[in-house]
Amino acid sequence: MCGIVGYIGEEQAYPILIKGLHRLEYRGYDSAGVSLINAKGELLVYKAKGKVSALEASVEGKDVSGTIGIAHTRWATHGEPNETNAHPHYSQSKNLTLVHNGIIENYKALRAELEKNNMTFCSETDTEVLVQLVEYMMNSHHCDLYTAVQLALKNVVGAYAIAILEKSHPDQLVCARKGSPLIIGVGKSATGRKEFFLGSDATPIIEHTKDVIYLNDEEIAIMDRTGRLEITNLANVKQTPQLVKLQMNLDELEKGGYAHFMLKEIWEQPNALRTCIRGRLNMADKDVLLSGIIDHKDKFINCKRIIICACGTSWHSALIGKYFIEEACQIPVEVEYASEFRYRNPVIHSDDVVIAVSQSGETADTLAAIQLAKEKGAFLYGICNVIGSSIARATHSGTYLHVGPEIGVASTKAFTGQVITLALLGLAIAKEKKTLSDDMFHMLVEELQMIPDKMQWTLEHNKGIDEYAKTFTYCKNFLYLGRGYNYPVAMEGALKLKEISYIHAEGYPAAEMKHGPIALVDEEMPVVVIAPKRGNYDKVVSNIQEIKSRKGKIISVVTEGDTVVKGMSDYYFTIPDTRDCYVPLLAVIPLQLLSYYVAIAKGCNVDQPRNLAKSVTVE
Ligand code: AGP
Ligand code: GLU
Repeated sequence: MCGIVGYIGEEQAYPILIKGLHRLEYRGYDSAGVSLINAKGELLVYKAKGKVSALEASVEGKDVSGTIGIAHTRWATHGEPNETNAHPHYSQSKNLTLVHNGIIENYKALRAELEKNNMTFCSETDTEVLVQLVEYMMNSHHCDLYTAVQLALKNVVGAYAIAILEKSHPDQLVCARKGSPLIIGVGKSATGRKEFFLGSDATPIIEHTKDVIYLNDEEIAIMDRTGRLEITNLANVKQTPQLVKLQMNLDELEKGGYAHFMLKEIWEQPNALRTCIRGRLNMADKDVLLSGIIDHKDKFINCKRIIICACGTSWHSALIGKYFIEEACQIPVEVEYASEFRYRNPVIHSDDVVIAVSQSGETADTLAAIQLAKEKGAFLYGICNVIGSSIARATHSGTYLHVGPEIGVASTKAFTGQVITLALLGLAIAKEKKTLSDDMFHMLVEELQMIPDKMQWTLEHNKGIDEYAKTFTYCKNFLYLGRGYNYPVAMEGALKLKEISYIHAEGYPAAEMKHGPIALVDEEMPVVVIAPKRGNYDKVVSNIQEIKSRKGKIISVVTEGDTVVKGMSDYYFTIPDTRDCYVPLLAVIPLQLLSYYVAIAKGCNVDQPRNLAKSVTVE
């Protein structure tokens, strides 16, 4: 959810940790804290409510020296976001400090047990239980920190990524994970000695080293200043660390001249999608090559059903994927909210293919949903953006989006990356199953290749929205309507507006409007209608008429050259013509821009909207 950074080496840890926290701030940001061991052997902790900059201001003039440290940005789950509940947490004797991402589900029982043994608590967090439990184990078993962590974690139910400092051993850093990601970066300091970095994702590590180890569930690692790195699991079985190279560039993590990451990521979409389809579309043969399915063709050819599990924006792209795959491959597709699916004892057969769609690859519910499907013998396919993420590693095969790191909390380029990847997957399966005529297949490949250019056109031709958006700051509600492939786009447009401008919005299938939501329409209510000149165009025109008769304000997304809907609209966005199934890739662009500029006009913090976190690793 939130973020962990750690360092042990020869450099001053504080600047590395603070910079890392800034990089991680997009994941969660209600408080921040840092713990260091200075040259005098003091175990220091500084915490502040609010953003990382508040922490920086609060430590001004204080001792932040030391070449070992851990730091945290918090997205509160247990206990309000205040300084006391912020991490790192001290153990009772103040010999240990600990940071944690995740949730300890049995913390109440553990806390009661520890309290019986005279341990006292300062915070309301579930996290504090961990540090006290580790200390309790050290004292009661007379063991070292590493062994105590092993013993403690055996009693813990829930998800964690943790990092721990020990005052009496200032030359070592211990960390562990289960259910929450943790990455160890292995670098070289100026003197040539090994140094280690910790991160809940690669963003705080990338500027120091590209050599990383992804810690697996139930693994504990110890790093020390001599360059020693040892990993064991909870059962104390030694694990061989697998060093891999990060595929990410530092400039991808900067705003590159844009006011916000979200705006940068909106404008990046044409290029991001070019990268996504590169090597996967062969234009000489008008063919699709998706390496993820090559070795698993039979699974897709023979499956009776595909189930797609996802959350939020990824659930919207999954719905578009369903329409595409059903149409192109004639395979029934069910789209499930991962959080519902995993708790309702769903029917899963061994000849089902279960696809997880997740930008972060870490969403706890999506991960749990596929784990359930794995137990029932289904074939698992991952569509993720973050390379090496938990979902990518838990699936049998998959396709990466390759759209680059997405930092803005409101997903934009990952959404279009997911839609285009699902289209590639649909085409690749259709080719194997021969469910499309050659002409249709080739035409869909050719049209897909043109989408990035058409996206660029869409971005260039809808710039005026920044001024118009200002007129909506007073709005309390928005309605978004679309039919067929554009119904999920309506939901995505509504979600974007809700997330960053805090205006209530609903996405509806246009025809359903008259079964309820039309009661809300009056002259105060903007209705965004996706009305491309294809599909059920005439039906959508009638729906617009119904809204106009009730004085609703129409904002439409129309195809270039359209006059009818344009004439009925108070404001319109234009997109180039494309096949029905690809319209979402273009129609969503103006909706992203609309939500961005309404939020800006309202003075909202676009990249870090309230209460939201980029990667939802809690359930
Ligand atoms: C998107 O704008 C949201 N922030 C959110 O709905 C997101 O799509 C959802 O949490 C799923 O995340 P994932 O794709 O990383 O699994
Ligand atoms: N459960 C912990 C807390 O509330 C950590 C939450 C997180 O992952 O940010 O402090």
